[in-house]
Amino acid sequence: MIYLDNAATSAIKPETVYKTLDRYTRLHSANAGRGTNDESLFSVNAILEAQDTAAELFNISHPQNIAFMQNATYALNAAILGTLSNGEHAVTTVIDHNSVLRPLNRLGNFTAVPADKEGFVSPYEIERAIRHDTKMIIISHASNVCGTVQNIESVSKIAKLHKIKLMIDTAQTAGILKIDNAVLDADFIAFSGHKGLMGPLGTGGLYVKTPKELEPVITGGTGSSSEIPEQPRVMPDMLHSGTMNTPAIAALSEGIKFVMSIGTDEILRHERGLAAALRSELMNMEGVTVYGRQDGIGTVAFNIDGLDSAETCGMLKDFALRAGYHCAPLAHKALGTEKTGAVRASFGIFNTYEHAQLLADAVYRTAKKFSKPID
Ligand SMILES: Cc1ncc(COP(=O)(O)O)c(C=O)c1O
Repeated sequence: MIYLDNAATSAIKPETVYKTLDRYTRLHSANAGRGTNDESLFSVNAILEAQDTAAELFNISHPQNIAFMQNATYALNAAILGTLSNGEHAVTTVIDHNSVLRPLNRLGNFTAVPADKEGFVSPYEIERAIRHDTKMIIISHASNVCGTVQNIESVSKIAKLHKIKLMIDTAQTAGILKIDNAVLDADFIAFSGHKGLMGPLGTGGLYVKTPKELEPVITGGTGSSSEIPEQPRVMPDMLHSGTMNTPAIAALSEGIKFVMSIGTDEILRHERGLAAALRSELMNMEGVTVYGRQDGIGTVAFNIDGLDSAETCGMLKDFALRAGYHCAPLAHKALGTEKTGAVRASFGIFNTYEHAQLLADAVYRTAKKFSKPID
């Protein structure tokens, strides 16, 4: 089985991540911030170190404003529900994931800006969607379906101009594209720890620029200010209710260090190169349709004509691919794949050109045998 589902999670991790997870689980599993014993303080230090590492990657000047959570979904919900609690309007895009669309749908006051057929959203359209009561723009840095990268630099300028909060969903790009918050100055950065950052499953986080303007959704024991009835308003305690998964957070820190040791420019070059190689092979095949753009991240979406994406995936069973709608139903409408879904191959740092070639060969054989003309 060749693993090509890195957009879902990077199933293969660097050795340092496995080792750290094992070492912390065996030797350093005391509850962080629950006492002054050495082991508890050791766990606190693991979280502080992970904050520093994540801050270095994103060029964030206040590491204490990074909270760790179990995935990007929790981070996105924490920022959306904690900012728009009075029902204010939000702007997002059709490319965004259900982890954005569903909390917004629950609040009921948002505009999803359309994308073109390649999944690109014009910043101009985002600006046009802003209303007098818009409080927040939420944008996925890159599509998890077809890999198209959005122009977040321009969106950031628009948010500043209109004094609207900006959240960047970096689930698909953290550890792959350069994200320099000294330039972007986002109000929130939500990230998955278990995808491009190479951390274990169950890791992610949220950077909050102005914690006092965020209402914590989850409240509870933080090990700090226990005598007061309200949730402490200092970061990260404000968003760290309950026992933290310090072994996973320490291992995530190692994953981020691995990413920084290679550099996002090199990681992007590698993954985009593999995607470009697969894409150009598929584009030249009869009976195969490819979606997205050549200059995306390392994700390629395609279909064999006349087949449902699930059928195609079933025939390509030597590869871990993903069929269906990828929790992004509106993105599929934009790409024109709302009836069939699409097959997604997403490359990671441990994939090779041979993997791309083997998949291209298998798609060729399958399309030759099973593709049907689309009416
Ligand atoms: C664009 C995007 N946002 C959010 C998420 C949710 O990430 P997580 O699985 O870390 O909750 C995903 C997951 O695939 C995603 O692709």
